[in-house]
Amino acid sequence: MQRLQKLMSRAGVASRRKSEEIIAAGRVKVNGEVVTELGTKVDPQQDKIEVDGQVIQREKLVYILLNKPQGYITTTDDPYQRQTVFDILTDVKQEVHPVGRLDKDTEGLLLLTNDGDLTYVLTHPSEGVKKTYVATVAGVPNQAKIEALERGIQLKDGWTAPAEAKIVADLGSEAIVSLKIHEGKNRQVRRMWKSVGHPVKELKRTKFGPLDLQGVSVGDYRYLSQEEIKQLKRIEKQAEINQ
Ligand code: URA
Repeated sequence: MQRLQKLMSRAGVASRRKSEEIIAAGRVKVNGEVVTELGTKVDPQQDKIEVDGQVIQREKLVYILLNKPQGYITTTDDPYQRQTVFDILTDVKQEVHPVGRLDKDTEGLLLLTNDGDLTYVLTHPSEGVKKTYVATVAGVPNQAKIEALERGIQLKDGWTAPAEAKIVADLGSEAIVSLKIHEGKNRQVRRMWKSVGHPVKELKRTKFGPLDLQGVSVGDYRYLSQEEIKQLKRIEKQAEINQ
């Protein structure tokens, strides 16, 4: 949801200040009703906004794949003024939101979009897409630990769903491992490895549903292709059918 005057200025109707005057003058309709209140929140995708009888174009939907560096947080507003992923997306004009979160110290694939319906589906635990995390962990997990993670383990906020775990490389005192999950509990991957005795030293999300990081270096981003958007939409469609 967005403030009406912000939406108007983003759509190029007028500056925010001028848009407020236009609203106060009763020249704006939201879904056919005149609105004069300045704080009114609207949905840029769903609501029909008219200024002097002219419909404002809905905001274009954008889908961005970011390779997040460590040290950046995934929230819109940070009270401590830390670096956020939005400091990287300087060329993006639309108000996009992250689809799920990555911890400050986690690197890797973060999808951002202004498509609220898709965000809802992709972050809903029952539909959640599969995400792959590659980690460096202390020690080398044995087969029993791998199987325990795959079956599901008890964290303080409940059992984890079945997952896929693998040792990618045995480095002696540490290992590179991968874990594929479809849930999104807070710090889930770190907590899962820790609970089997192998704390995470470094963590990177390498896959998110059909998307991977190929061709996008750390700190870079790109817009999804039409084909990739279609693949994500298919997941959305499937979720609607399952409801
Ligand atoms: N799990 C974690 O522990 N951290 C993340 O950033 C994402 C998943």
